[in-house]
Amino acid sequence: MSAILNPPYVPIPGIFLLLFEVMIEFNKSEWANAEFSQEYIENSDIYIVERRRLLEILRSFYNHFINKKPNIRILDLGCGDGIITHELLKVNNSISATLIDGSEDMLNKARKRLTGFNHTHFIKASFQEIIDKNLVQGNFDFIVSSLAIHHITMDEKEALFRSIYSHLDTDGYFLNIDVVLAPTEALERWYLLLWKEWIDERKTLLKNRR
Ligand SMILES: C[S@@+](CC[C@H](N)C(=O)[O-])C[C@H]1O[C@@H](n2cnc3c(N)ncnc32)[C@H](O)[C@@H]1O
Repeated sequence: MSAILNPPYVPIPGIFLLLFEVMIEFNKSEWANAEFSQEYIENSDIYIVERRRLLEILRSFYNHFINKKPNIRILDLGCGDGIITHELLKVNNSISATLIDGSEDMLNKARKRLTGFNHTHFIKASFQEIIDKNLVQGNFDFIVSSLAIHHITMDEKEALFRSIYSHLDTDGYFLNIDVVLAPTEALERWYLLLWKEWIDERKTLLKNRR
């Protein structure tokens, strides 16, 4: 997963600088490809180490810090098929949820997944559009994002975090579940290897179960 992070470890300094400044438009990213996003949905339990545990932590955080408030409004950034919002709606089905993603395919999957929940609102927008066009309206008690923000550059992250902060209620929270770069290149290479080993192991395990 770290291979698709911002590229500060590209070895040639000139290339590093060049890449670092280039913003990847959502439409030119792999996520704009319906097959790529479908592949992610089908295999996310394999690709994401400890997915179940992460969802448990999300629910616990929500219950501890947010669920006591009345009329809760949440915003899910890079929602994918809506798994994060769904976990929270299972805890409290009166939540009013706004889900944003750059991919219409993903949003359709989220709409399908959340059929039956009445207070859901879907917006097709890239993070870059959120930053540039001020598309998000109102304030939220909880802004959450899972495995999505690492797709944008450092400058974009800074602008996005500013925007997120401006849309948080006074005692609101922002939770970002995401991958981070290791402190050294050697560690980063090992993390990637470890992750590949995990994927291979899980795939073999699942194959043997069939
Ligand atoms: C790895 S998936 C995560 C989906 C979901 N949050 C989850 O935890 O399963 C990344 C999601 O971010 C979206 N995404 C990636 N880059 C984006 C961007 N620049 N703007 C908006 N959405 C983006 C993709 O379309 C995809 O749905």
